[in-house]
Amino acid sequence: MHLLSMNDLSIPGLKSLILETEDIKKRPGKYLDRLKGKVMLMLFEKPSTRTRISFETAILQLGGNAIDLNENVTQLGRGETIGDSARVLSRYADCIIARVRKHETIRELAQNATIPVINGLSDIEHPCQIISDLYTIYEIKEKLDGVRLTYIGDGNNVCNSLLLGCAMTGVNLTVASPKGYSPADVFVRKAEEISKETGSEIRIINDPGEAAKDADFLYTDVWVSMGRESEEADRLNAFSRYQLNKEIVEFADEDCKIMHCLPAHRGLEITNDVIDSEKSIVWDQAENRLHMQKTILLRSLK
Ligand code: CP
Ligand code: NVA
Repeated sequence: MHLLSMNDLSIPGLKSLILETEDIKKRPGKYLDRLKGKVMLMLFEKPSTRTRISFETAILQLGGNAIDLNENVTQLGRGETIGDSARVLSRYADCIIARVRKHETIRELAQNATIPVINGLSDIEHPCQIISDLYTIYEIKEKLDGVRLTYIGDGNNVCNSLLLGCAMTGVNLTVASPKGYSPADVFVRKAEEISKETGSEIRIINDPGEAAKDADFLYTDVWVSMGRESEEADRLNAFSRYQLNKEIVEFADEDCKIMHCLPAHRGLEITNDVIDSEKSIVWDQAENRLHMQKTILLRSLK
């Protein structure tokens, strides 16, 4: 019922979300009343443009209502526990979409809620982003199995969900991060375990040029995620060789596409000439968040 991690989805469940989104994107008129009378709560502890607005728009386009909750407008700001809040909110609404500083918070929310809880990003996962990105790749390649995706940068929340999502769908994923910034072992091990079933190849290396070789998709994310601001100086130093620039793109397949979950820090993890190039699919990637949020909402409320 909850979607806190890619681990909450089965492999067929993930694949069907991707297939269902085709119809939702092409025939939005069919889905206009699907959330009529339903109320979704948006509990965001961190800023968001894509996740919040794509969810709110999806809810409105499906005929439902979204209510903004944050610490300043609820008793959460005065110390009411997340567990107690979850119990009460479950008596009013139909679903909670939450962006949290700590993954434990969304776990506690889910443990105490009797309505579905959807993770709109935590410090360790970003499942809605990656489900949508897999759909974007599928839209272009008409398959996922055997597609070569390279992620260059921080082994962060986006990277963790990417590891699980690629392993589940047979995408061959190479991650190149500086030493000390590779994704956590627990996600790498889980991805390797899943890949035994799907045949996906998972590689975690340090050399960005080597990682980019023959890639169908090159993906990056910020070097300094929300909540890591105090590490900025060290990170800018450690990641300077891990920029998605023209030189790195040269290593990839001629038809390779550029992905970024956004927001981008132009001139740091990605250069203007790459994000604005013909190879870039970042705006389509952002648009697909809207279509996929609809699929996720409809599935969660079934
Ligand atoms: N990619 C993404 O989740 O963006 P926001 O932080 O704007 O929601
Ligand atoms: N890794 C980034 C993703 C933002 C959508 C962060 O957590 O800030």
